[in-house]
Amino acid sequence: MQKHTPPDLPPMKDLTTDNITDNVHTINSSCPDPRTKFLFERLVSHLHDFARETRLSIAEWEAAIKFLVDVGKISTDVRHEFILLSDVLGLSLLVDAIDHPKLPGSTEGTVLGPFHTQDAHHVDAGHHISRDPDGEPLLAVCTVKDTQGRPIPGVSVDVWETDSKGFYDVQYADRSSPDGRAILDSDSDGIVHFNAIVPVPYPIPHDGPVGQLLAKLKRHPYRPSHMHFMFKKEGYDRLITALYLRGDPYETSDAVFGVKESLVVNLSRAGDVEGLAEKYGVSPDTKLLQYDFVLNTVEEARKAREEASLQEIERQGGKLRLQDGLLIPK
Ligand code: BEZ
Ligand code: FE
Repeated sequence: MQKHTPPDLPPMKDLTTDNITDNVHTINSSCPDPRTKFLFERLVSHLHDFARETRLSIAEWEAAIKFLVDVGKISTDVRHEFILLSDVLGLSLLVDAIDHPKLPGSTEGTVLGPFHTQDAHHVDAGHHISRDPDGEPLLAVCTVKDTQGRPIPGVSVDVWETDSKGFYDVQYADRSSPDGRAILDSDSDGIVHFNAIVPVPYPIPHDGPVGQLLAKLKRHPYRPSHMHFMFKKEGYDRLITALYLRGDPYETSDAVFGVKESLVVNLSRAGDVEGLAEKYGVSPDTKLLQYDFVLNTVEEARKAREEASLQEIERQGGKLRLQDGLLIPK
């Protein structure tokens, strides 16, 4: 019969709550990729410590497995329940902040969420991105600049928002074409302007396992009123962010932890700015969203990421090093 214990590994028998972790590390140690090996070493350590520290019961372990199976069962190409789970656990925001640290003065990122799509139409400046007749009209006039304050032309700006009932287009079974979303290019002055509707608060999908989890934790499922933005241009770090309306009832209790003070805006009216309503062809009463977005170059983002990684190496007593921008053991 074939032997499955590699000759250089000790036989793994009689494992206990005390020595099983080291044994799992040992059997995983032949993994040739140092980053994969490191990720699994840390994952197994944290999982085992979690089980030991809580004295996890089999019934709880079974409930957790069933929960994950349910999260998988409800997931489809447009229902991203695992992203939702990551969002309500604060993991999405954490990973974005780790992987896309921003230089001071540049626009902070926030959660992508599960409602970005790849099929938004590329439209001209001034386009009405929402067909919802019940939405309150909003004019958005924003700039895209670099960290030196110079306008960046030709940035692809993806925007998406819900309708006035708080639903994204993809949440309607009879969706025929994109609505409440579009892609625009910043002009030669770095300006991007479009017509939309005033965002409203809405609950994240909570008719599935993640909703049940929130209910169990006595948490509400609401996100404060916001509009999503994604900026892309070669040479710049892609920025995924959103703007939030000040004074929203959920401003300080977002179900997915996405609000940052630097992204909270006050809407004004087009008529408040001399000549603006005429210039953009809207009534002076139209709500106005103005914001100056600041992008990092790829090199600035790489430096910010490296600096944060070096701080983590120091925090962990120098046991780690960087390889291709990622931490691995020395
Ligand atoms: C959203 O803002 O679209 C969103 C973000 C996270 C979870 C659900 C929705
Ligand atoms: Fe959203």
